[in-house]
Amino acid sequence: MRISVIGCGYLGAVHAASMAELGHEVVGIDVDERKVATLRDARAPFYEPGFEDLLRCTLGTGRLSFSTDVADAAGARVHFLCVGTPQKHGEYGADLRYVDAAVESLLSVLQPGELVAGKSTVPVGTAARLAELVEGKVPGALLAWNPEFLREGFAVEDTLHPDRLVYGLPAGPDGEVARQLLDEVYAPIVARGTPQVTTDHATAEMVKTAANSFLATKISFINAMAELCEATGADVKLLADAIGYDDRIGRKFLNAGLGFGGGCLPKDIRAFMARAGELGADQALTFLREVDNINMRRRIRMVELAREVLDGSLLGKRVAVLGAAFKPDSDDIRDSPALNVAAQLQLQGAVVCVTDPAAVENSRREWPHLDYAATPEEAAADADAVLVLTEWRQYRELDPVAFGALVRQKRVLDGRNALDRETWTAAGWTYRALGRRAG
Ligand SMILES: NC(=O)c1ccc[n+]([C@@H]2O[C@H](COP(=O)([O-])OP(=O)(O)OC[C@H]3O[C@@H](n4cnc5c(N)ncnc54)[C@H](O)[C@@H]3O)[C@@H](O)[C@H]2O)c1
Repeated sequence: MRISVIGCGYLGAVHAASMAELGHEVVGIDVDERKVATLRDARAPFYEPGFEDLLRCTLGTGRLSFSTDVADAAGARVHFLCVGTPQKHGEYGADLRYVDAAVESLLSVLQPGELVAGKSTVPVGTAARLAELVEGKVPGALLAWNPEFLREGFAVEDTLHPDRLVYGLPAGPDGEVARQLLDEVYAPIVARGTPQVTTDHATAEMVKTAANSFLATKISFINAMAELCEATGADVKLLADAIGYDDRIGRKFLNAGLGFGGGCLPKDIRAFMARAGELGADQALTFLREVDNINMRRRIRMVELAREVLDGSLLGKRVAVLGAAFKPDSDDIRDSPALNVAAQLQLQGAVVCVTDPAAVENSRREWPHLDYAATPEEAAADADAVLVLTEWRQYRELDPVAFGALVRQKRVLDGRNALDRETWTAAGWTYRALGRRAG
């Protein structure tokens, strides 16, 4: 099938290459000329394991192309909308200007019988509004919402092997036409029995924001427990293990630490609250404000913990920050807790050196006033404290004995509860972590 993908960021670029991998003829459209040139060159504009190989292979088949001209989307039977929906400046709501502009530009090429399939995360009600616009301007064209659940760091695997497909379809016979088109796009995924939820526009939009709200709540729940553990001397890691054995609760997303960040969870829960307010249902989601507050408090607590460990003052202290990306296996630094903490430490007088296996370039561009190093060893040279703020495998596997020879003071703050406390303390380190007693 001929397919277009509008917006080739973390979501769209992976989606475009994955759809070509499934055998479709795909054109990816983006307004960013540099990104399009990079993708055409078979280079990934961002770090995502396995993506560059997939890009190279699918470009090599001739089935995948990229363009800045939406006219090249003409003739596609399905047009996937994958543009960004960031938080509005100074407000909680989602900024829909990119979605609106993408749909507006598509109208110039859209033909009856073609399907616009939204994948961006949008406030509930957006699809119904866009469907009216599309059907009004191009009678016979359809709009569905097909939210995306990929995780950065596993984006290729999640796109090719999703755990479910959610279709938000128009009412009546149009819905069946849209469903058949989406089933044809995802034929190999459907054939292997992947669960499908077929529903209306509003439910499909809400599935995504509800899922993100649940995950954010689970993280903030365990971080609230960490606050209590800090007050009582209990150990949040053992607490998480113990409650996680209950399969109604589960251990996943119960790692206490610096909390969530990135381009999705924070802005999605805020947009969800804003939308609930517009719908007169704000009380239903006031708990998300607390989820957000707990999450942001962890960053402040991390800075306090660093001050405590550094004998009460950050002034002139050398601090190595390991990790800048909002999560491991990604170079995404949008709302990164690690960089937030690094910047606070520096503003309060510490001499901060940040390292990350993939995100130094992005970090330097956005946070030019911080110092950067290429390796953890370089960052830790003569450090008074080492903070592990993104749980990259490389950092989890550091040898505390060899690493200890580089620093001025063997003090480690494990912002992700990712290190083995015993081996670090056995190597002479003072070990501190959120929600755990000093080791
Ligand atoms: N990144 C994720 O892990 C993920 C997962 C699920 C859902 N989502 C959702 O997917 C959407 C995209 O997220 P992302 O992380 O890929 O964002 P992104 O910022 O990486 O990518 C968005 C892309 O859209 C392009 N764009 C903007 N306006 C355009 C237009 N009019 N025409 C063509 N291209 C245009 C931008 O240049 C950019 O390359 C968001 O709604 C996000 O919430 C993201």
